[in-house]
Amino acid sequence: MDGAKPMGIRNVSSICSLTELDDHDLSRLLEKPRLINNIDRQRSFDERSLSELPMLRVRGSYDNFDSMPSPGVRSGIDTPASWDGNSLDPHPIVAEAWKALRRSLVYFRGQPVGTIAAYDHASEEVLNYDQVFVRDFVPSALAFLMNGEPEIVKNFLLKTLQLQGWEKKIDRFKLGEGVMPASFKVLLDPVRKLDTLVADFGESAIGRVSPVDSGFWWIILLRAYTKSTGDLSLAERPECQKGIRLILMLCLAEGFDTFPTLLCADGCCMIDRRMDVYGYPIEIQALFYMALRCASMMLKQDSEGKECIERIEKRLHALSFHMRNYYWLDFQQLNDIYRYKTEEYSHTAVNKFNVIPDSIPDWIFDFMPMRGGYFIGNVSPTRMDFRWFCLGNCMAILSSLATPEQSMAIMDLIESRWDELVGEMPLKITYPAIESHEWRIVTGCDPKNTRWSYHNGGSWPVLLWLLTAACIKTGRPQMARHAIDLAETRLLRDGFPEYYDGKLGRFIGKQARKYQTWSIGGYLVAKMMLEDPSHLGMISLEEDKQRKTLMKRSSSWNC
Ligand code: GLC
Repeated sequence: MDGAKPMGIRNVSSICSLTELDDHDLSRLLEKPRLINNIDRQRSFDERSLSELPMLRVRGSYDNFDSMPSPGVRSGIDTPASWDGNSLDPHPIVAEAWKALRRSLVYFRGQPVGTIAAYDHASEEVLNYDQVFVRDFVPSALAFLMNGEPEIVKNFLLKTLQLQGWEKKIDRFKLGEGVMPASFKVLLDPVRKLDTLVADFGESAIGRVSPVDSGFWWIILLRAYTKSTGDLSLAERPECQKGIRLILMLCLAEGFDTFPTLLCADGCCMIDRRMDVYGYPIEIQALFYMALRCASMMLKQDSEGKECIERIEKRLHALSFHMRNYYWLDFQQLNDIYRYKTEEYSHTAVNKFNVIPDSIPDWIFDFMPMRGGYFIGNVSPTRMDFRWFCLGNCMAILSSLATPEQSMAIMDLIESRWDELVGEMPLKITYPAIESHEWRIVTGCDPKNTRWSYHNGGSWPVLLWLLTAACIKTGRPQMARHAIDLAETRLLRDGFPEYYDGKLGRFIGKQARKYQTWSIGGYLVAKMMLEDPSHLGMISLEEDKQRKTLMKRSSSWNC
C-alpha cells in the first residue's frame, strides 16, 4: 500500500463549498509528477483545462499530494498489474472486475479496439450485447486511461472515426455525415480470413433511432484521452478535427428552433427505448454542453476551426442560460410554478412555456426537499417532465453546466432522497417510475420497461462512476464511499448485472444481462477515482469564468 490511501477522504465535510477551494490547493495538485515530460505540453494544450482538476480539495484534507499517483500512470493499487495481494484492503471485487473487463476486450486485426456490452453466456438471447457500444465503452476507456493503458482508447477513437465516414442510410433516407455509430462489431470474413467491421447507426437498432449521445461521448472521450496522456497529436490530426466539426455541424445548424437546446427523438441516448424522453431531454442537453466545451478546447484556430469555435461560444452562452433558468427546480421554483398564471402573451410572460399547474404530478410535492434541487427531465411548450434523471444531473455537475450553487443543491437532494435514488443499489436511472395507464401510453406497453425496472426506475450500477465523480467534484467523497460500499455487497455475487429492479433496487433486473461491461468498468472507475481524485480532471470541467460574468449580466437584464 502506498501513501496515497489515507488522504483524509473520510474526514471531508460534506458541506464544503466549491468557493472554499483556493488556487494554492489547485496548483499543488498540478505539481504532482504526472507524466512528467507531458505536463508542459498539457499546459500549452489548454490553460483553462489545468484549472479543471478536481475541486474537492478541502483545506487541510489532502496534505500529501506529492505521494498521490498521477493520472495516466497506473494507479498503484487495486489493479491486477500491480496488486500483489498483500496491499491494504483492495476489495476482492477489484481483481475480479479487472479480469472480467479484460475478458470483454474486442480485437480488430490483432489490436484491441473496444469492449463488448456484455459477456453473458448464460443469456439465451445475444441481441446486440455482443457489440461494442460507444456509450458503454466510456467507463471501460476511463478505467484503462486511469490504469495507464491509453492505447485501446486511441484505437477505439480512430476506429469509430473511420465508421463515421461511412455512408449511413435507413431505407432510402441518408443520415447526417457526422453521425457516430451506436455500436459496432468485428466479424471474421471467412473467405478473406480477415477481420471486418459492421456498424449500427440506428438502422438495426430497436426502434430505429440514431444515437445522438454517441458523437458527444466521442468528443468527451477524446478530451479525456488528451488530458490523461498529454498526447495532443491525436486530437490535432486533421481527421479528428474534421470528425469533431462534423459532429457539431449536426447540432449547430440553424433551423426553426426557438430554444438553444437540442431537439431529439425518444430513445436517442442511454435510455434507448420509448420512455417519454423525446423533445429536449436533460441527458442530451448536459452531454451536448460538455461536448461543446471539450470541442472548443480541442479545435484548432485555423479558418474552419475558428468559425466553429465562435458558433460554439454563442451556443454555450445561450444553452447555459436556458438550462440554468428553465430546467432548474427547487422548492422555491416549484412553488412559483404551482402558482403560475397561464395564457400569458408577450415578452413579459412569467410562465413562458405556458405550463399548466394542474399538470404538476403529485409525487413531486413530497419528493422536493426544502434544501436541494435538480435539473428536470425535459422542458418544451406546455410540458415540464419533472422526473429526476441521474446521468443528466451528474453530467451537469461535471461539465459545470450547473452553477456551483446548483451542483451543491443537486448533491443535497441526492443526500436527502438517498433511499429513493440510491436505495440498496446505486443508482436509479430515473425517478419515479411510470405506472399503470400512464405506462401504457408513454412506453407503448413496453414489457421491458414496467415500473421500477430497466429504464423505468431501474437501478444501474454503471451510474456509480458518474455519482462518484460528482461527489468528488462537490467535496463529498464520503457519499461516494457509501454508494460504493453498497455496490460491493452485491455486484460480484450477482455477476455484475446490467440493472436492478424494484423501488430500492433490491432485485437483479428481470432481463438484466450478467457481466455487463459498463457495470464492471463503472465500478472500477468509481474505485480508482475515489482513491486518486486527480483522475477527475479527465472528465470534469471547471466553470467558465468568462461566461459566468456574461450570465450574471444577462440574467439581471432579463428579470
Ligand atoms: C441497452 C441500454 C443502452 C446500452 C445497451 C448496451 O440497450 O439501454 O443504454 O447502450 O443496452 O449495453
